[in-house]
Amino acid sequence: MYTQPMLKEGSLKNKVIVVTGGGSGLGKAMSIYFLQLGARVAITSRNLEKLEKTAQELHQKTGGEVLAVACDVRQYHQVEEMLQAVLEKWGRVDGLLNNAAGNFISPTERLSAGAFDVIIDIVLKGTKNCTLAFGKHWIKEKQEQATVLNIVTTYAWTGSAYVVPSATAKAGVLAMTRSLAVEWAKYGIRFNAIAPGPFPTKGAWDRLLPGDLKEKFDFKKKIPVGRVGEHQELANLAAYLMSDFSAFVNGEVITIDGGEWLKGAGEFNMLEAIPEHMWDMLEAMIRGKKK
Ligand code: HXC
Ligand code: NAP
Repeated sequence: MYTQPMLKEGSLKNKVIVVTGGGSGLGKAMSIYFLQLGARVAITSRNLEKLEKTAQELHQKTGGEVLAVACDVRQYHQVEEMLQAVLEKWGRVDGLLNNAAGNFISPTERLSAGAFDVIIDIVLKGTKNCTLAFGKHWIKEKQEQATVLNIVTTYAWTGSAYVVPSATAKAGVLAMTRSLAVEWAKYGIRFNAIAPGPFPTKGAWDRLLPGDLKEKFDFKKKIPVGRVGEHQELANLAAYLMSDFSAFVNGEVITIDGGEWLKGAGEFNMLEAIPEHMWDMLEAMIRGKKK
């Protein structure tokens, strides 16, 4: 069931949505579903060749209108140009999905200042650049409704060792989401975030689980529901948050991780390791103390 499309046909009809990092991985998966639901979608990232190939593929798959625009989200002027390209093509924009990211595992003491910066610049500054440019446009045009959806991670609030620049940046994106949800609601702009657990993509796995780390640190083992995420179930959630069905959801971060982060957090969750037959003995020991 969770690999099936969820929303009814036409749920995003007439909407123009920009997906940063839409040429690959989760951005591509969400773009496909937005198109299937009737949206027109601009996919944007640094690599135009990759984007054009993806745009062609998405158009063939869905019959929808796709625009590929090169834009490094770290550069504010490029973001403004990307927005102009979308407006020239379709005359409006309704949704922004801040999905572009950079990340790699490393002990923090091994990072140069530039290595720390590159992640902060793509994730936090990139999200800020897009949000500011699009927000100014919507406010100036007095557009009635617009939606920003930010992709964070569960370690935006728990933090995580070995991906410290990413955790720092995603925490900032989450703070931005919640802050602007309140400040810009008066302009009709909604802000929400999704915090995915592991959803295998080439971009993430190459940088987070290189070589045989994939086998050594199998994510499935630390996820209570016993599996990693399917792209369609993330796309279902993203489409709902982009659509008018979620009009009263504002400032929310929705976790979609099979219970992974809570498993790491709960004080006694390690008792999962105790086999069924030992519970009789443990119960007897506890009850015995009462006497
Ligand atoms: C240490 C590194 C490094 C590494 C790069 N650097 N890789 N340092 N370990 N593995 C350093 C460089 O030496 C340089 O330092 C600085 O970082 C910038 O590197 P560049 O290669 O010049 O940067 P750039 O070409 O802009 O590439 C950005 C990138 C790259 C982030 C380094 O990996 C990239 O393009 N990533 C985009 C896609 C991506 O990361 N996807 C995964 C998202 S997954 P100096 O000192 O010379 O400046 C994700 C999932 C989270 O977020 C949750 C999962 C469960
Ligand atoms: P991905 O395929 O590597 O996606 C990252 C995208 O960002 C790429 O398309 C990349 O395209 C683009 N990008 C990177 N730097 C950019 C820049 N400076 N300007 C514009 N675009 C840039 O990885 P993914 O797994 O799909 O990740 C997508 C999102 O999900 C990210 O926000 C990530 O943090 C989040 N996430 C993923 C997982 C997971 O398990 N996969 C879990 C939690 C959260 P170019 O290289 O062409 O620029």
